[in-house]
Amino acid sequence: MFSRTISAMPNLSGRQVFLRLDLNVPLNGQEIVEDYKIRAALPSIKALLDHGAKIIIASHLGEPLVKGKLIVGAKTALTIKPIAARLAQLLDRPVKFLPGQNLAVLRQKISRATENVIVLDNLRFWPGELENNRDFAKELASLADFYVNDAFAVSHRQQASVAAIKDFLPSFAGILLEQEVVNLSKALNPKQPLIVVLGGAKVGSKVHLIRRLGRKASKVLLGGGLANNFLAAQGYQVGQSLVDKESIDLARRLIKELGKKLVLPIDVIVADSSSQPVLRLINQVGDQDRILDIGPATIQEFSRQIKTGKTIVWNGPLGQFENEHYKNGTLFIAREIAWQSRGAAFGLVGGGETVAALQMTQMAGYIDWVSTAGGAMLAFLGGEPMPGLKNII
Ligand code: 3PG
Repeated sequence: MFSRTISAMPNLSGRQVFLRLDLNVPLNGQEIVEDYKIRAALPSIKALLDHGAKIIIASHLGEPLVKGKLIVGAKTALTIKPIAARLAQLLDRPVKFLPGQNLAVLRQKISRATENVIVLDNLRFWPGELENNRDFAKELASLADFYVNDAFAVSHRQQASVAAIKDFLPSFAGILLEQEVVNLSKALNPKQPLIVVLGGAKVGSKVHLIRRLGRKASKVLLGGGLANNFLAAQGYQVGQSLVDKESIDLARRLIKELGKKLVLPIDVIVADSSSQPVLRLINQVGDQDRILDIGPATIQEFSRQIKTGKTIVWNGPLGQFENEHYKNGTLFIAREIAWQSRGAAFGLVGGGETVAALQMTQMAGYIDWVSTAGGAMLAFLGGEPMPGLKNII
């Protein structure tokens, strides 16, 4: 599947490589909350250095632009600078951070730099990035001799540094990107039975995945805000829980298509009218209740299904796991998935919040592949276009 990998690149001594990474990590001010994505990028950086390259690293971070205009304070709040500093620590070598948007100036600074690892500032500070602007892509490309995409997590976006840039440079796949594709593909050709566990909010972003994996799965277990739409579509009262009409219509269609493969909560923990956590059977949710977790009978049923799995895919928390009162369902199921993945099944988990919940269990090490991607994982598994992969795999 992969002919254009880093190991297939020619000798890179004296050559410059534009390395697109996804360093879009959660920040608290200038402090990095979670550096999993930064660590995951190290193998490609080291491999390129071993090949003798000078590397120009670029990533997006958050959403600094609204309607093409920079949000006030974005250049400080969403600078890549602290991430470049962490990279220097992890690589244990000097890293040159080059801020600024004037590409002619940057080109000169890059050629003068004595460091072999250079990091540009947030790609989304340039409006051309989101627009997949060809002139901007060409200018970015002019900074280097080769292009490597190791940013699988943003490869579902039609954006200049993952899409158009490939028209202007010989392009290759990074090590993480390759691993993501190989491991995610295992869910598309699964060892049966395949059990899919989905939570999170909207149905819209998951509809292709539910359809495509649903056809292959023996069960699709639904929790979180996602399940509320399916419950409402079946005529259950969901009180003040988040649902939207469009998602309920989509849910209705998916129920028709997948029938008994879909497993919905049979009991839930709600916040009642006085915001107290209360256990309710699914047909007893009151009109002032907000569903915020799955209940014990649902946990038991989901666990029973997970134990049958030889392939397990999980994306999306099953409740408001950041809240002490509503974390139990998500964490219990995370442990079950991890335990089953320890040997009996191939376990695949992705999505920022999902991975954060998994890490709370201290059992992430049992999962066969923890994806760095959220939306891109859904898009890849759902068979949607992946502009960042085109012409490199
Ligand atoms: C992610 O965190 O899922 C990726 O970095 C993509 O970010 P985006 O949704 O802002 O494009």
